[in-house]
Amino acid sequence: MRVYLNGRYVDSEQATVSVTDRGFLFGDGIYDVVRGAGGELIEVDRHLRRLARGVRELRITLDDGRIEELRHISRTLLRENHLDGDALVYWQVTRGTAPRTHQFPPAGTPPTVLASASPVALPHALRTRGASVITVPDVRWARCDIKSVNLLPNIMAKQEAVDAGSDEAVFVREGVIMEGASSAAFLQLDGELRTHPLTTHILPSISRELVMEIAAELNLPVREFPVLARDLPRVTEMFIASTYNDIMPVVRIDGRAIGTGRPGPVTQQLYAAFAERIGAVAGAH
Ligand SMILES: Cc1ncc(COP(=O)(O)O)c(C=O)c1O
Repeated sequence: MRVYLNGRYVDSEQATVSVTDRGFLFGDGIYDVVRGAGGELIEVDRHLRRLARGVRELRITLDDGRIEELRHISRTLLRENHLDGDALVYWQVTRGTAPRTHQFPPAGTPPTVLASASPVALPHALRTRGASVITVPDVRWARCDIKSVNLLPNIMAKQEAVDAGSDEAVFVREGVIMEGASSAAFLQLDGELRTHPLTTHILPSISRELVMEIAAELNLPVREFPVLARDLPRVTEMFIASTYNDIMPVVRIDGRAIGTGRPGPVTQQLYAAFAERIGAVAGAH
């Protein structure tokens, strides 16, 4: 695999960063993940905008031109690695390499910029059956709107789900369903589809945004309004959404069936439109 690291394309075995990289020492960096399909990038503008926002929020000195370059770099990686099917492109920017101090390194310290691409097997079989999830307490920090490489709570939550024989963990903060460990969450309650409003406590998920747009086109109202964990027994449909999953029906939560225990009709309708949109982007190039 060829990867991009700090201005050069190199074999992945040759791509190394220093032990004093602030990403390694502190998790002082951000990342993003973009889907590749048919050699093209899906919704890359939105991912670039989110990365640019994260860079600004964390005051990492990477200018807009360098961020924009990731578009071309990612396409090059798809091509050079012959990824003309489904792929995931990974970007990571850290505050760079410098002697370890908590405060920012000296001005002029270049950030570390990594981009890589790999083939992915999409979870179509699970989508047919529907996923099972567990709820876990949301012990994350209060800036979950930043896609930080600090993913310990997400990792611990996901492993708890795997240990429980489930597919995803869903964070609950003060009794409210927030989002998945690596996905946005949508739930149908009282005939209304809901997702948590965009606050600093959830990631501004690109898939969430796409679901909202597609739902509006289909005249399926989605309310950005919290669902309480105590109302879960009354939830009639649920799905999670992410760059990897697209839309993934959820049929069990904490061991209890949701609705009929099978993927719900609204979820399926949304997924059909979602898949068509992604297919159209991939097919247009
Ligand atoms: C915490 C969290 N929420 C939501 C998502 C989904 O975001 P996106 O749709 O942009 O992939 C992710 C993706 O990794 C995530 O880590």
